[in-house]
Amino acid sequence: MFEQKDPNLIQLNSAGQLKHFLTTEGLSRELLTEILDTADSFVDMSAQQVKKVPLLRGKTVVNLFFEASTRTASTFELAAKRLSADVLNLNIKTSSTSKGETLKDTLMTMEAMHSDMFVVRHSDSGAAHYIASQVTPHVAVINAGDGRHAHPTQAMLDMLTIRQHKGSFEPLKVAIVGDILHSRVARSQIHALRTLGAAEIRVIAPTTLLPRHIEALGVKVYTDMNQGLKDIDVVMMLRLQKERMQSALLPSESEFYRLYGLTEEKLKLTHPDSIVMHPGPINRGVEIETSVADGPKSLILKQVTNGIAVRMAVMSMSMSGQMTEYQAEKEGE
Ligand code: CP
Repeated sequence: MFEQKDPNLIQLNSAGQLKHFLTTEGLSRELLTEILDTADSFVDMSAQQVKKVPLLRGKTVVNLFFEASTRTASTFELAAKRLSADVLNLNIKTSSTSKGETLKDTLMTMEAMHSDMFVVRHSDSGAAHYIASQVTPHVAVINAGDGRHAHPTQAMLDMLTIRQHKGSFEPLKVAIVGDILHSRVARSQIHALRTLGAAEIRVIAPTTLLPRHIEALGVKVYTDMNQGLKDIDVVMMLRLQKERMQSALLPSESEFYRLYGLTEEKLKLTHPDSIVMHPGPINRGVEIETSVADGPKSLILKQVTNGIAVRMAVMSMSMSGQMTEYQAEKEGE
């Protein structure tokens, strides 16, 4: 666990623009909306014959994934390529990390290759903040998931998907269901949903999978899924993160599925126009029934597609924020 300072002291430049993207916590509604609007323009672009823009031409993006990933790593790579960047995916398993090289030494090594942006996934909460505090000025850092702390691009692609299907956030009742305790996604979603003005945010989980004092984030807590799903507009399911569980927090997977799995039967309790989301990877028959995951309300694959546009948005905005700061410093010299 790395020490974390006020994220906005690090992730915003003096003009209040993104220069890193580390967390959704504390970002203004205007800035979150700007990310969504910018992402929307890239969604439109992906329908064109040529899916490339020169916004990161001449820049080098290094993907540093110290934890496994399918969706996030692939869509960051595609996003960087669509922005015309040179992309380097460091294979951590075959890198010198396996010989005991520290995170800081790996970072300095990659910086020596004149990298302009690091996309980082790490099992330690605060790792992306730490890297952003260590990099040379004008190198951008994007958090691709740090420990249990934050997964801000996942939250923003979820917000984009909700906005596309529901229009505005104000009338929405949203339920986040499952392993809230270990979920960096849930934290980032809650911060974003609150800032964007969702009417009600519920978390639904057994007591053993709820962080203490979660109510302080402005959510309503339900341990009974049948009650919690009533009239819900957006159901956001979460995976059981068994790799992060240090003790037995559940009687069994089948008992969890009976009480907290999203089945067609339970889905009937939600609003008739409800939508179903999941950040993936999904575990069918553990937190979600196959017919729900593949059913007409499911937006799970749409979320994956939207990941490209959202990641293009935060990468281009962060690099632009870095360049604005660089220009301001040059003029002040
Ligand atoms: N949602 C998500 O972060 O998926 P990956 O672990 O496959 O990147």
